[in-house]
Amino acid sequence: MKNQVIIKKKIQPYNKKISVSGDKSLSIRCILISSIASGKSRIFNLLKSDDVLNSLKVIKQIGANYNITKNYIDIYGVGINGFKIKNSTILNAGNSGTLARCILGLCSSIQNNIKLIGDESLSKRDFSRVIKPLNLFGVNIVSKNNKLPIKLIGSNLLTPIQYEENKGSAQIKTCIILSAINTPGVTTIKARKSRNHTEVLLKYLKYPIQINKYQKYDLIKVRGLHQFNSFDYNVPGDISSASFFIVLTLLSKDSSLTIKNVNINPSRIGILKIFNKMNANIKILNKKNYKGELIGDIKIKSTKYFKSFNCPASLNSSAIDEFLLIFLVAAKSKGVSKFRELDELNKKESPRLDIAVNFLRMIGVKVVRKKNNIDIYGNPNLDLNKKFHVRNFLKDHRVFMMSVIAGLSFGGSWKIDDKDSIQTSFPDFLKIMKKIGAIIK
Ligand code: S3P
Repeated sequence: MKNQVIIKKKIQPYNKKISVSGDKSLSIRCILISSIASGKSRIFNLLKSDDVLNSLKVIKQIGANYNITKNYIDIYGVGINGFKIKNSTILNAGNSGTLARCILGLCSSIQNNIKLIGDESLSKRDFSRVIKPLNLFGVNIVSKNNKLPIKLIGSNLLTPIQYEENKGSAQIKTCIILSAINTPGVTTIKARKSRNHTEVLLKYLKYPIQINKYQKYDLIKVRGLHQFNSFDYNVPGDISSASFFIVLTLLSKDSSLTIKNVNINPSRIGILKIFNKMNANIKILNKKNYKGELIGDIKIKSTKYFKSFNCPASLNSSAIDEFLLIFLVAAKSKGVSKFRELDELNKKESPRLDIAVNFLRMIGVKVVRKKNNIDIYGNPNLDLNKKFHVRNFLKDHRVFMMSVIAGLSFGGSWKIDDKDSIQTSFPDFLKIMKKIGAIIK
């Protein structure tokens, strides 16, 4: 079968320096926010993956042009309330929850009929989380069971809202902030902690957004209808993509790896905090601030002995896309690692909690699950020699890549379906993997 990889050998020891592709969250935010800036923005190192390319297509359909060259992309912003769109336009968000949720906020003041659709996986996901706040702004939304396809008719009479976001979802928060920008007056969001790239970028652009940080939540105030200037941006590497290589190196023998220029925004590095408690050998070098974002090089060394960890739910949001990988390290630790309140994990591109539990059991790891809490009984001697076939995971890119890491580090003979899923977030994944010595067919 063509769209499948075969792994029969663990990776051999390596000592390498790599870079990973541009951050997906920042790439999508650069596109959406530059589309409503005044004038031409130039974005370097934009991630060229399906989620990001779909974001470009969508902003073009609503009136913001762009031009791609080899090294950068120019986006011609239309200013706030400057979108021009044909009636009954169909926007396709593909696999991207971030694009789908955020574009609804960005379009909240467009008064034409817009239909939003997505692929099979996105069509299973919940949109009540954004429909609810958008309705409060005065946006008209029609959908069956709060799922795609969604019909949206924006309004020129939006009213600001006070909203409590309690899932710790940056997609919901960003959707509300983008809609607030279209709305006269001040919108207030009490948001449970989640990645804060939208706020950081808007602050850098001198947009009137005020953020008060408290221990468990941020209080965000956004003044609407403030025109702002276009910008240049160089997207740093994606910690979520880097994480596959971090875990491979930790779990492999006698290896070391440096990953250059990665975004290490504190709201994204839950995985590093968790691994720090588990005795993983990871260092951050050359830390610097770039336009409000923290960036650094990550140096990883193979680790022989991992401690188990009782993970507080307060770390869930900052590690949300990395749990599949964190579970692999837990599987190799001494003792029982505990993870709590992972309900959001089952609402991703696939039901990742269900998939992770099945996967761990498939490779012989004991997992006890109670609702959305799991205990993983680690085995420091985990070493596989059986045959495995990973399939039917709704083409979830992170499930595919996690399976590759399991095969290369634990051994065994693996067939993993849906290789093309890497196009969603990390098209260079297999290329970089081969560069550090992985044998993958
Ligand atoms: C993202 C936020 C997270 C994350 C997703 C990207 C973003 O989703 O899982 O991959 O760019 O805002 P939630 O905000 O829904 O948790």
